Amino acid sequence: MTQQRWQAPFPVAGPAQFPAVRLRRLRRTPGLRRMVQETHLRPADFIYPLFVLHGRDIRREVPSMPGVFQLSVDQAVREAEEAFRLGVPAVILFGIPARKDPLGEENFAAEGIVQQAIRAIKAAVPDMVVITDVCMCEYTDHGHCGIVDHREVVNDPTLEIYGRVAVSHAEAGADMVAPSGMMDGQVGAIRAALDAAGFGQVPIMAYAAKYASHFYGPFRDAAQSPPQFGDRRGYQMNPANAREALREVALDIAEGADIVMVKPALAYLDIIRQVRDAFAVPVAAYQVSGEYAMLHAAAQRGWLDLQAVALESLTAIKRAGASLILTYFAKEAARWLAAG
Ligand code: PBG
Repeated sequence: MTQQRWQAPFPVAGPAQFPAVRLRRLRRTPGLRRMVQETHLRPADFIYPLFVLHGRDIRREVPSMPGVFQLSVDQAVREAEEAFRLGVPAVILFGIPARKDPLGEENFAAEGIVQQAIRAIKAAVPDMVVITDVCMCEYTDHGHCGIVDHREVVNDPTLEIYGRVAVSHAEAGADMVAPSGMMDGQVGAIRAALDAAGFGQVPIMAYAAKYASHFYGPFRDAAQSPPQFGDRRGYQMNPANAREALREVALDIAEGADIVMVKPALAYLDIIRQVRDAFAVPVAAYQVSGEYAMLHAAAQRGWLDLQAVALESLTAIKRAGASLILTYFAKEAARWLAAG
């Protein structure tokens, strides 16, 4: 009886098929796997969000975000120094004002909390890139991202405020501003305001495709910024839309955006990829509060390994096409990466 040669149960087109091809060959040892790895995370990919509030020596942990704190300026400086030592090149600042009012006056005050934090961080760590979120929701008593008139968030009058906020951040020394309010024309208005004030060299990272996501829940506790009526669907994007994201990004680039952002990240990897393929500007992605909280919650129950799932998520976001990642894991992930 002659031995039958093994036969593929499917048509084999040529030699470049199993069994000649065995993809497992390059997975057999750590060395081989390292050699063929396509995506590498680096601490330099990360932008670290910080929440700053008035006072001294305050580190108040956000209950739904273990390891994330509302920080007084002195503590925010410590946090920035530590992140910088670990190789994280940038922070993005969110302010919790002393008082909220309809226009959010502290947002563009020279002694506002973010303006103080910018000056203190730049004085202590001059090479840290200090980015500021430009929005109104943390500063307004109604918690919306623009001026409210008869329970409607009005677009065009809001642009003037955004311009004032961006200029006041630049005056305090911000290296980059990041408008996140999703008003039409916000990037152009901020570019014009910065240029007119002599800040033509300050770049804009636009929250270009920002979705009306329920994954922002924990952030609204951290920044004390939930809308007091209604929701943000009148200005943030519908999670069901992808082509519209490309229009948002195209407009922001036309208005002068230097970097465009997709937010959230993990549930929107398809958007990150499409933006990356369609445009030549750097793409950032925001791994938002709910993404962070989910991983921590599961890890606390012993259901997931925090370090493993955090690094896997960040790698996926980078693989999808983001070259910058805003993440609450920035400091920890930098530490994990350094430890190999
Ligand atoms: C401000 C802003 C928000 C986030 C970033 N900038 C909140 C919102 O739009 O409600 C969310 C960040 C996060 O969830 O981590 N507009």
